[in-house]
Amino acid sequence: MSKKKLVFSGVQPTGNLHLGNYLGALKNFVSLQNEMECIYCVVDLHAITTFQKPDELQNNVLETVASFLATGLDPNKSIIFNQSSVSGHTELAWILNCVSRIGWLNRMTQFKDKAGSDKEKASVGLYIYPNLMAADILLYKATHVPVGADQKQHLELSRDIAQKFNNDFNCKDFFPIPEPLIPKNVSRVMSLRDGTKKMSKSEESDFSRINLKDSADEIIKKIKKAKSDSEPIPENLKNLEKKPEALNLLNIYSEVTKKSLETVLNEVSGKEYSFLKTKLSEILIGEIEPIGKEIKKLLNNKDHLKQILKKGREKANNIAEENLKNIREKVGLL
Ligand code: TRP
Repeated sequence: MSKKKLVFSGVQPTGNLHLGNYLGALKNFVSLQNEMECIYCVVDLHAITTFQKPDELQNNVLETVASFLATGLDPNKSIIFNQSSVSGHTELAWILNCVSRIGWLNRMTQFKDKAGSDKEKASVGLYIYPNLMAADILLYKATHVPVGADQKQHLELSRDIAQKFNNDFNCKDFFPIPEPLIPKNVSRVMSLRDGTKKMSKSEESDFSRINLKDSADEIIKKIKKAKSDSEPIPENLKNLEKKPEALNLLNIYSEVTKKSLETVLNEVSGKEYSFLKTKLSEILIGEIEPIGKEIKKLLNNKDHLKQILKKGREKANNIAEENLKNIREKVGLL
């Protein structure tokens, strides 16, 4: 078996990526591209498992690419492309639909959450979405997959599918069993209004999140309004256990400054949260505002973004076609 490391990850095309996407995924993608070969895919086929307005979908794909570039992904180092442009994803997904088991999919908690109370009305695509995710990864024989904790179960399913394929078709080690790369220190970035919920673009209030395109003024306003605590900042982490919003602000500060939470607490304990908020706004503006400006600039030249996708597509498709040849042969497809 080749020992070459290959990173693959997928990001859903949503306009308006936020601080949670940045600290939880994009920043890590950027550092990985200097260590290994990396493929980053904008997963438009995953997006359409719930209805998307066609023109919005297109714009969201381009905006996601712009966000990749603005945060430091380099198309000369990493392969950047959109999923639907490489048809191998759907071809392999079909084959893997026949390897994956209904019982396995029935255990996926994200489907249960997303489908809600009326599962009969969810699209079939939403149900088999994890098989498509396995196809994304295995199409390139990726060895490492950076994902957030919410995707861990899907990645475990990809590992089961890879293993079953290797067994069923008697080809031990054909698909590498992909390893999750869940960033070690990144605590999840939570909503600024409810510290028990993840920061999310689907939360109604825009005050719940810092968007990568927010202006300095918006960042200041949002941090000022963020829930914290009326008591001064404690010395000890234990005292924050029941104060998720306060902990979240400290976590974000620690993440962006790359200081441990303990170091941060040493710096600010005994002070009011307004003190922390002022510092936090400053460092967030320093980090986020230039990214937002770059995203807006890149979006003014959509042809350039499409060109980047086209080049990425060619590179991705070459690897995919080569692997698919062998996959078809293993399965016995003429
Ligand atoms: N399902 C992932 C999400 O919603 C996105 C995704 C699709 C992905 N294919 C992938 C992530 C392959 C990692 C690897 O976040």
